[in-house]
Amino acid sequence: MLKTASSSTEKPVAESTTAPQKSAAPERWYGSEHVARGGTLFAQHCAECHGKNGEGASSWRRAGPDGKYPPPPLNGTGHAWHHPIQVLGAQIKWGAPGGQGNMPSFGDRLSDQQIIDVIAWFQDRWTDEIYAQWWELELRSRQ
Ligand code: HEC
Repeated sequence: MLKTASSSTEKPVAESTTAPQKSAAPERWYGSEHVARGGTLFAQHCAECHGKNGEGASSWRRAGPDGKYPPPPLNGTGHAWHHPIQVLGAQIKWGAPGGQGNMPSFGDRLSDQQIIDVIAWFQDRWTDEIYAQWWELELRSRQ
């Protein structure tokens, strides 16, 4: 006897081959004007050490012979997203904590608004996934 189409037990092909979205990416706190201003500042003040696109030094995980670490990436592939914005801002304003590293302080060259702009620029390199993880940390730090 011939099988009819209706007797088939085959399941319909899944609608989409992409994984289901875990949760919608949070909206970014900054706007394009922050990113534009921050990009100019980053190129002027930060790119020489952290790389043109914030990629950091390739050896950033290993301390040099002086015990100090090379400039880490800020583009979302390093640790920067582990820090709430207050901490990032303080690192930029005051430099390496306790003067123990080679991150200079920019408090005498950049205003607080400029520091915020430059953070927006490098956060704009982060993927939605990294940004979402950072955002959770950020919210917790404000409680
Ligand atoms: C002279 C080189 C140099 C310049 C210029 C520089 N940095 Fe850094 N930066 C470092 C080094 C080295 C570190 C690693 C930590 C340390 O030793 O202080 C660092 C660390 C950081 C961190 C902490 C990252 C993390 O993963 O915790 C941030 C944020 C940062 N820099 C942002 C900036 C920004 C923004 C600018 C420009 C306004 C800038 N840096 C300019 C060398 C530099």
